[in-house]
Amino acid sequence: PAIACIIPAAGIGQRMQAGKPKQYLSLQGKTILEHSVARLAAIPSLGPIWLVLAADDAYFDATPLAQSTVTRVKGGAERMHSVLNALHFIDEHQYPWVLVHDAARPLVRQSDISLLLQRCIDTGHGGILACRVRDTMKRGERYVSETVDREHLWHALTPQLFPTALLKAALRDAISQGIAVTDEASAMEWARHTVLLVEGRSDNIKITQPTDLALAAFYLEQMAE
Ligand code: C5P
Repeated sequence: PAIACIIPAAGIGQRMQAGKPKQYLSLQGKTILEHSVARLAAIPSLGPIWLVLAADDAYFDATPLAQSTVTRVKGGAERMHSVLNALHFIDEHQYPWVLVHDAARPLVRQSDISLLLQRCIDTGHGGILACRVRDTMKRGERYVSETVDREHLWHALTPQLFPTALLKAALRDAISQGIAVTDEASAMEWARHTVLLVEGRSDNIKITQPTDLALAAFYLEQMAE
């Protein structure tokens, strides 16, 4: 089936304290955004990419992506609005599935994306790449109120893949009812759809804090070897 791709890249990356949005920081001579786009563009079974950018984005035009075939869409207040803005342009009959990938995850491997596609399309359910939590998990604020059983805890990564019509409806309904979601799966869970957990690699990190950039550079070097 035909699969459309959305890369939300309209965030400002406040936690990065970098002076510019993190997707435009340089990693081995290319912006993080270019790496992330290239990861998807390299997979023949994926369709066109809709890239969501902030209305006042001042960096995109200086990247080689401005000359590429990606379609630009204006971002919204939060990630969920940004993704829904892109979904408005995607016809669910032409593209029955949609894959959403963070602009800030430049390290995702083709093998993980293939696994996600295979699991979801075989079962007909949406799904996400995820990796198991490794530390002991605590709930609390200044002191521990409880230890959370980590056996069933996962980090939600991207890409996330869903039937286009269902994701559109779930995001629209969640937004209209004031439900805050931080990833697409949250909206699908809220709408009571099954979301598969597909175990992916833990080096598919999201660049979030200043120290993540050096770590990403290290992983990228390893991948090239
Ligand atoms: O802030 P966080 O790292 O969770 O953002 C995840 C992704 O969502 C980033 O690629 C960011 O650019 C994007 N985003 C967006 N629109 C917003 C906020 C975040 O496209 N309003």
